[in-house]
Amino acid sequence: MTSNAAITDIWNRLRDLPTPRLTDLFDADPDRASRLSQRLDFDLGELGQVGLLADFSKTHLSHEALDAFEALAEARKFEKAREDLFEGRVVNATEGRPATHGAMRGSGTAPAVEEGEALLARMGMLVDAIHAGTLGEVKHLIHIGIGGSALGPALAIDALTRDLELVDVHVVSNIDGLALEQAFAACDPATTLIAVASKTFTTTETMTNAASALRWLSDNDVSDPSGRVVALTANPERAVEWGVDETRVLPFPESVGGRYSLWSSIGFPVALAVGMEDFRAMLAGAQAIDTHFRAETGRENLPLLAAFADQYYARIRECQTRAVFAYDERLALLPDYLQQLEMESNGKRVDVAGQPVEGHTAPITWGGVGTDAQHAVFQLLHQGTHLVPVDFIASIAPGDELDLAHHKALLMNCLAQGAALMAGQDADDPAKSYPGDRPSTTFLIDDCDAATLGALIAFHEHRTFANAVLMGINPFDQFGVELGKQIAKKIESGEGDFDPSTTRLMQAAGLR
Ligand code: F6P
Repeated sequence: MTSNAAITDIWNRLRDLPTPRLTDLFDADPDRASRLSQRLDFDLGELGQVGLLADFSKTHLSHEALDAFEALAEARKFEKAREDLFEGRVVNATEGRPATHGAMRGSGTAPAVEEGEALLARMGMLVDAIHAGTLGEVKHLIHIGIGGSALGPALAIDALTRDLELVDVHVVSNIDGLALEQAFAACDPATTLIAVASKTFTTTETMTNAASALRWLSDNDVSDPSGRVVALTANPERAVEWGVDETRVLPFPESVGGRYSLWSSIGFPVALAVGMEDFRAMLAGAQAIDTHFRAETGRENLPLLAAFADQYYARIRECQTRAVFAYDERLALLPDYLQQLEMESNGKRVDVAGQPVEGHTAPITWGGVGTDAQHAVFQLLHQGTHLVPVDFIASIAPGDELDLAHHKALLMNCLAQGAALMAGQDADDPAKSYPGDRPSTTFLIDDCDAATLGALIAFHEHRTFANAVLMGINPFDQFGVELGKQIAKKIESGEGDFDPSTTRLMQAAGLR
């Protein structure tokens, strides 16, 4: 049988499986909760530890489905694809590039890992020098970047600076001037540094915001505005041409994708806000997950197991979305981060051979924080017509110092939602009955510290990669974002024809 025929066969096998209710799966297998839960513990020495419990038992993954998905992973040569990733071989075929984000945190082959260490040491020297006052008093950093050059730093800073922020960081991404004005209003120009974060150093939003930030410094009598800029980029020549002194250009390799770049110099604002030790702890937590992902096989491999569930819901049950609810304010930006990671990576319609993929690829990732979301969107999850697989993420240790009642209530609510989604409830009044049988996965982290955040993010990176391998698609390109950029340029130039709707809108907006 050809490998394509074998893959079709496995999907057919999966489609033909019975779909028992979740409660029936538990009845048939009293050990299900422990069999489909896994606790990962990593001792990172001086950098702390990571403890994470993942419970997949409230998903519809049966023994038979897991067997079939393991066969699918084999037919898709998952283990080879994983080695290709870590060995730095070309895994991004459309752009002819490896994907070496793992090497930025110590996972991969010697030359890439050594390069990562050297770049990190260079970043560390600048961070320590700034903390020591070499660039004068620095109280604020305006970090300008968009997409992968902003979402990771924003998430990590929001998550890790609740107690202490060594430098007050403002992440600005939108080209809407209001975003930058808001940062200006919160910063004193005399004690502000600007980080321009852009892999390409060409992105319109970032370069426009960066130019305005320089103007703001000079308008406010900062004598050497360019001397206050740090560039984080895979295009150092362009940053120097733009006017940043080489000593303040922190490069990273072209083979690190934008949405995978938090571990590289794009993480500079995080390191400045939390210090190099915590930044290194974040990398170490991520590296621990790399080790797990690289070593484990089949359902024992947590990111791969998560991808089995994702594939089951997207492609067998045809769920168009998946939701992520963080029962922790510190992870409020996690759904935003995951949207880019998952939707930009796997929101594709053709496979690596350019052939159309049958069925849905990446679901639409959305979510929010608990308990807020319970009072806004959970109605649809419990009684709506859509089937939405849900991820719950909560920390066992509280992030606050108030009465423990707050944290207990938070955790109780988180667990109650998963139980309610699964159990449902009959009632005489149809409006008051809940169908139940709605799946969820729960992640309990010991604490939301730097190492655990790194582990959580790396887990999702590998889950995304594993999904791509199971579908045979390339998760490392993003050509779908280009057309809109080209048309925006065309509108700017005022040249060319547009459809009648866009022409009228351009006139109404004063653009023509
Ligand atoms: O337009 C999409 C994108 O290319 C993302 O993939 C990327 O993270 C973002 O733009 C920003 O790109 P850059 O870091 O080159 O400014």
